[in-house]
Amino acid sequence: MGFWETQENVRVQCTGKIDKFYREGNTLLFYSEKAVQRVKVLSSNCIRITFSSKKTFLDIPSFAVVNEPIEESFSVQEKDEAIFIRTKEITASIDKQNGRIIISDSKGNIISEDIDYGFSWTKDTVKCKKKMSSSDHFYGLGEKTGYLDKKGRKYVMWNTDEPTHTPTKDPLYKTIPLLITFNGHYASGIFVDKTCKLWFDLGEENNEYFTFEAEDFEMDYYFIYGPGIKRVISTYCDLTGKMSLPPMWALGYQQCRFSYYPEEMVKSLADSFRQKDIPCDVIYLDIDYMNKYRVFTWNSNRFPDPEKMLKELREKGFKVVTIVDPGVKKDAEYDVYVEGVKKDLFCKQVTGEIYHGKVWPGVAAFPDFSKEETRQWWGEKHQELLGKGVAGIWNDMNEPSDFSIESQDRTLCTVPNDVIMDNDGHPRTFAKYHNSYGFNMCRGTYEGFKKIKPNERPFMVTRSAYAGIQRYSSVWTGDNHSWWEHLAASMPMHMNIGLSGVPFVGGDVGGFQDNATPELFARWMQLGAFTPFFRAHSCIDTKPHEPWEFGEEVEDICRKYIKLRYKLLPYNYNEFYKASQTGLPIMRPLVLEYADDEDVHNLCDQFLYGESIMIAPVYRPSTDKRCVYLPEGGWYDYWTDKVYEGKQYILVDAPLDTLPIFIKCGSIIPMAPEMNYVGEKVVDVLTLEIYPDKETTYSLYEDDGLSNRYKEGEYRITNFELMVNQDGLSFNITPVHKGYDVKREKYVLNFHDINKEPVKIQCTDEFSYYYDVHKRILSITLKDAKTQQVITVNY
Ligand code: GLC
Repeated sequence: MGFWETQENVRVQCTGKIDKFYREGNTLLFYSEKAVQRVKVLSSNCIRITFSSKKTFLDIPSFAVVNEPIEESFSVQEKDEAIFIRTKEITASIDKQNGRIIISDSKGNIISEDIDYGFSWTKDTVKCKKKMSSSDHFYGLGEKTGYLDKKGRKYVMWNTDEPTHTPTKDPLYKTIPLLITFNGHYASGIFVDKTCKLWFDLGEENNEYFTFEAEDFEMDYYFIYGPGIKRVISTYCDLTGKMSLPPMWALGYQQCRFSYYPEEMVKSLADSFRQKDIPCDVIYLDIDYMNKYRVFTWNSNRFPDPEKMLKELREKGFKVVTIVDPGVKKDAEYDVYVEGVKKDLFCKQVTGEIYHGKVWPGVAAFPDFSKEETRQWWGEKHQELLGKGVAGIWNDMNEPSDFSIESQDRTLCTVPNDVIMDNDGHPRTFAKYHNSYGFNMCRGTYEGFKKIKPNERPFMVTRSAYAGIQRYSSVWTGDNHSWWEHLAASMPMHMNIGLSGVPFVGGDVGGFQDNATPELFARWMQLGAFTPFFRAHSCIDTKPHEPWEFGEEVEDICRKYIKLRYKLLPYNYNEFYKASQTGLPIMRPLVLEYADDEDVHNLCDQFLYGESIMIAPVYRPSTDKRCVYLPEGGWYDYWTDKVYEGKQYILVDAPLDTLPIFIKCGSIIPMAPEMNYVGEKVVDVLTLEIYPDKETTYSLYEDDGLSNRYKEGEYRITNFELMVNQDGLSFNITPVHKGYDVKREKYVLNFHDINKEPVKIQCTDEFSYYYDVHKRILSITLKDAKTQQVITVNY
């Protein structure tokens, strides 16, 4: 059957019989009468499948994929019914009757199966339909509302300025079309690399199959075999790149509001943090710092001497991040607009005229970021900010949002589909480009940042994004509300963004719209302290939302958790380092580590922060108990040191000042002294909180936290190894890479859960110790913190 008509009289066609196929290097081409299908073998666990209903491929360079490997060691075998492509790990068979693809692992288990027919298409879209089993779970898909497991709904990918994130609202601001399927045994990924509108139907239409569909004549996706979820993500990040290390201060607490101005207010805000002994690294300037919302300008009444102000703030340890929106005010007196027109850098209509929409400054033009020249120009414009001492850039409204289109349907409130993008001389309509607009704005900004401040690591945060954004920017999840529901919803949303290759993620702590209650604010601050991007933000006309605005009790709670965040800085930075190496998330769902455990397959209200810490936030009002699931292994209650066996549900006390935190047995957590901001103090004493298991190892990465010299080897890696036996324990400290000279003078090793006073302690060098019988902690202080050390303890 070559075509049929739907109830709505839409003609649907499908591939039909494959007439011929060719192999060229790592590429196979399959022709039917009406279509062509291409399979590229990229590695033993990854193939790229492109389908065209027009018999030609677009072959537009990808924005997302920066590294597409070529694998040639695979075999091709033609049989009567199908053509088989075999790598070391997977076999893909292409059915000769209809082109449908079935992929199995080396043991013959089917891991992905097109059903009915291969691809199908209408005049506007192309779709792929795959079998879904009742045991399948779906993760990833970037920023989506709902639970961790995305099954059962249909999602659309269309970057939208949507300010109401109610449970089924879709789409929001970002497009990351990586779908991870996990059936309880093995995982695979489908990454659809297309920047036009996409749909993923994960069981809304039917529970026998799922589909993904593009508003185009071509489908282009990467199939990634795990078998574990981690391997799917790391293979995806091999394709799309990994986050590079941010400046360490970006891991500190960040304070935002729409808007802090004038200068005196910003300075007094900064002073309040120091006076109140609440650590803070970053203050944000929202749109009101500009001259009537003209990007790359300053309002000279509100900020008469930005350079001086930024310097004074820097001296107190504050970095300032400014917002930048893409809309450039239409104004014949405004140099940025005039230059953009003259150089032909704005998006244009089919007629050749500049497209003008409306954003904060009123009528505005939108830079055409699909053009290299525009991206460069845009990057250079940041001299006005970065050159004056601004430390980072906040990219907003870049879906892009356009107020000139008034519609209940928010997906329409953007630059119209028929606007033409230059695409470096290969023009395309905005419809095909839409989802990468914000991504390319960030790309231009990032490149500009590197030129203006070549010795610093760029820091950026963006609202809109496309796959691969991790290479340029951190992300935040836009305009949430001060609702308990949004506190809860942020967990699965952040976790799925993390599973989609973007580890540096956070949301507006306290909620952006509406007023937080003291209780909500306290609970949100506790959760926020364990999100990679930790920023409080609130909207104009809401009540003040600074940590001291909710009474003394809540102020104390904010101080406690922000301070804890700073004490955990070495641990946190190490997690960022690992994420930069592997692409894996920092804030991770339990299913990533305990995939065999069915109880965690859709667990949304607990998460792991890095390797060793599990967080179970309270996300309902008037609640001072929390049911926590402990997966296999042993777990320490962080506050009491009580040890629990895993694989059980427990009920813990969680009064308002307590965030339930658990530490996995067999963990080493490096901690720094308290400080007001990152870099305030030299970490002369590194404390290791050691939570023993039989054998525990940990590798700590350190560098200067600011420059790019780590890329030339200026970093330090120290390995720690604990062995516990019947008579005592031994602990080794081994520097394995010494490219960076830490200023450390001492180690304090706190061994937890030690039930007996030691009878003998030996160390390579000078030491002192103290055994706290009540806390059951043995604390050993080492006077040498730079060389190899061996410690043995006998009870
Ligand atoms: C958008 C942003 C928000 C910002 C506001 C004003 O709504 O999402 O964070 O404060 O614009 O710039």
